[in-house]
Amino acid sequence: MKMKQLTALVLAGMMILPAAAVTADDSAVEAIKAKGKVVMTTNAEFEPFEFKDGDEIVGIDKEIAEKIAEKLGVELEITDIAFDSLIPSLNAGKADFIAAGMTATDERRKNVDFSDDYFNASQTIIVAADSDIAGREDLDGKVVGVQQGTTGDIYCTNEDGSGDINVKEVKRYPKGMDAVSDLMTGRVDAVVIDDFPAQKLVEKNPDKIKTLDEAMTEETYAIAVPLGSDLVDVINEVIKDLNESGEMDKIVGKYISTEEE
Ligand code: ARG
Repeated sequence: MKMKQLTALVLAGMMILPAAAVTADDSAVEAIKAKGKVVMTTNAEFEPFEFKDGDEIVGIDKEIAEKIAEKLGVELEITDIAFDSLIPSLNAGKADFIAAGMTATDERRKNVDFSDDYFNASQTIIVAADSDIAGREDLDGKVVGVQQGTTGDIYCTNEDGSGDINVKEVKRYPKGMDAVSDLMTGRVDAVVIDDFPAQKLVEKNPDKIKTLDEAMTEETYAIAVPLGSDLVDVINEVIKDLNESGEMDKIVGKYISTEEE
């Protein structure tokens, strides 16, 4: 850039600097309050955490997000995009937070800040009802379907360096549901996905597919904000309140029925 242009930009920058711009830069919370809305981004292909009921996005994460909006005293807006676009979109300023059953991993922590954990999860295997595959070891040499960019993908491709698993091929799908469709037509031997979404997928086709008992990973879900965003404090307060009041259990209970019940 030429010096003159640079000077012009600096001057232009100084001219728009007063009050509003300064607060918006410093405090995401102030900017959100000024806008009157908070934007959550998600991938609504992950029942029971976020999925579509007609045109509406519903689920556990959506309900937590509503509480966040309530706490801020603003409206909630939701955008629904591909899972592996969530972090880039957040960091492009298109959303204020990600609530997407997202596992808080160290790799992701390089690009986002995570709230406190709000849910424990693990990767689970789904296979055809009559499959011989009984656990992780049986996946050796098999074709496995995953949702692109998820921890299931990272685990099966050994990108996490765990070296736990040695499959022949990992097929990546935009939606977990697409992987399950291919499982039912025999194009993949197994699907690896988070435990509760796995349960929901199997509930829709109980005579064709089943989940295996083995929990392959230990993961915790958290809400992501841009690095340094003060919104994380508000989100943590909401999570704490929901846990202490028993409201979190109520929300989860609406979508997940445990066997004991
Ligand atoms: N927990 C997994 C991950 O963080 C899967 C999340 C998928 N979420 C979704 N809304 N599609 O990678």
